[in-house]
Amino acid sequence: MSTKPIGIFDSGVGGTSIWNELNLRLPNENTVYLADSKNAPYGTKTEDEIIKLSIKNTELLISKGCKLIVVACNTATTNAIKTLRETFNIPFIGIEPAIKPAALNTKTKAIGILATRGTLSSNLFHKTTDLYSHNIQVIEQEGEGIVQLIESGKLVSDEMTGLLKVYLQPMIKSNIDYLVLGCTHYPYLVPQLLKLLPNHVKIIDSGEAVAKQTEAVLKDNNLLNTFNKKGKTLFYTNADTQVISELLGNKHQVSYLDF
Ligand code: DGL
Repeated sequence: MSTKPIGIFDSGVGGTSIWNELNLRLPNENTVYLADSKNAPYGTKTEDEIIKLSIKNTELLISKGCKLIVVACNTATTNAIKTLRETFNIPFIGIEPAIKPAALNTKTKAIGILATRGTLSSNLFHKTTDLYSHNIQVIEQEGEGIVQLIESGKLVSDEMTGLLKVYLQPMIKSNIDYLVLGCTHYPYLVPQLLKLLPNHVKIIDSGEAVAKQTEAVLKDNNLLNTFNKKGKTLFYTNADTQVISELLGNKHQVSYLDF
């Protein structure tokens, strides 16, 4: 059982930022990654649609023998993880915007959150924000259009710079000192964000925390792969293989799969 793969899915290519963290922490683990790019973005879909897509992805990963599933998508986690846990008898790890560390450490008492509409409007997100944001200002910003640009290979482009400038402006004006990246596509924007933000602003995401949590849950369930051999990874996309290959530094093979 422990040599079975970890399944990872995202609405598209962004969850590879989580796969990178998992691979760093758990290099022996075999993994199967699904990029549902055909249906991206999830962030503008209804909760019902996101749940249906998440169930479809989970069923495919289970049919591929996965022992645990990482929902490498904030939008799918905040909208669907409860249903997934109720529906399937397999451990799930989700990802949520890292509001807690930002809220606890801010000195300017203002933090920014960049995420999709689906995440910002979810009950889970509201619950977490209410819990940690008593004495601070939280500037929420929907990253409309960012996922689409990344999915179409325009990570570094004039259009992207234009969107980021507009989205960061109210945050800079409010003197944030933390920017929380609430979407797994966004860690790929860090070099660009650093150029646009004042020096004192720290950018945080939840990738490392997800990898730590995955390790802990594997251990608790006796599922950790103890073989001293580098794990194998299968990357699948239901759209263009080139965009995801490039994000992975053209170091991994990516296969097209109709799902
Ligand atoms: N990577 C997904 C997330 O973390 C993007 C969602 C979308 O497709 O809009 O939310």
